[in-house]
Amino acid sequence: MSTTVEDVCNYIESFAPSSWAEPWDNVGLQFGSLRQEVTHLGLALELTLEVGEWVLAQKIDCLLTHHPVFFRPLKRLQAEDPWQGLIIRLLREGVSVVSYHTNLDVAPGGVTEVLAETLGLSVEEALKPVSEDLKQVGLGRIGNLEKALKISILAQRLSQRIGAPVFQVGPDREVRRVALCAGSGGDLLPQVLSKGAELYITGEIKHHAARDMETLGLSLLVSDHFALEAYYFEHHLFQQMRSDFPSLKISYYPGQSPFQLVISAQGGSKCAKKC
Ligand SMILES: [Fe+2]
Repeated sequence: MSTTVEDVCNYIESFAPSSWAEPWDNVGLQFGSLRQEVTHLGLALELTLEVGEWVLAQKIDCLLTHHPVFFRPLKRLQAEDPWQGLIIRLLREGVSVVSYHTNLDVAPGGVTEVLAETLGLSVEEALKPVSEDLKQVGLGRIGNLEKALKISILAQRLSQRIGAPVFQVGPDREVRRVALCAGSGGDLLPQVLSKGAELYITGEIKHHAARDMETLGLSLLVSDHFALEAYYFEHHLFQQMRSDFPSLKISYYPGQSPFQLVISAQGGSKCAKKC
């Protein structure tokens, strides 16, 4: 039996309904046709120029991404613009793109929960539940480790799982109650504090927020937004869809974060020791 773009959408909706997405988000069909038949499904965290070339070269006719293609309204589609030109080329080649974003972040067994579990966290509830009766659905997760662990051990575990560098805020100490948000988690700091977390793991945080948390005694592990979210796509969703759509050709494009570590630390001021 053939698979359509709509079947792919309905599949995601069955465990991560669009109604769970944040109000500012833009999930579902980005461009193309829901009625289109899919012969080769591609998965990637986001549509970049590189991903677009891969889609065209592999003759992918439906691309499923995490980050939506469109956040702001477009006033025109001009072929000379690299980004808009790519969309025109994809449309000409009959490619449809669907994106499922914050609904996949908040879902049980979704982006954040899978990452929390792989780090050994026994998840209690969402940091910011979508409603009072759905405590397990929402942005972020809070839970406990089976036994207290040094933050540096968890940092090592995290880096090994996602293959990206990790920054630590606060001293190395043993922690048990841990909160996590795979993407950009700065907005959830009030919930992290109110739920009694000793450590917060996230993909992005502002400098001054990190200083504030350091002062309040909350430790942080800050890693790479892309790598933290790509973990779910590569190690969970891709495998799950291959087993649930056995007759459909499905490929995953690993890609890479826009932030690449080139030098870890070298030289610098010795003032802190001398002054
Ligand atoms: Fe993200």
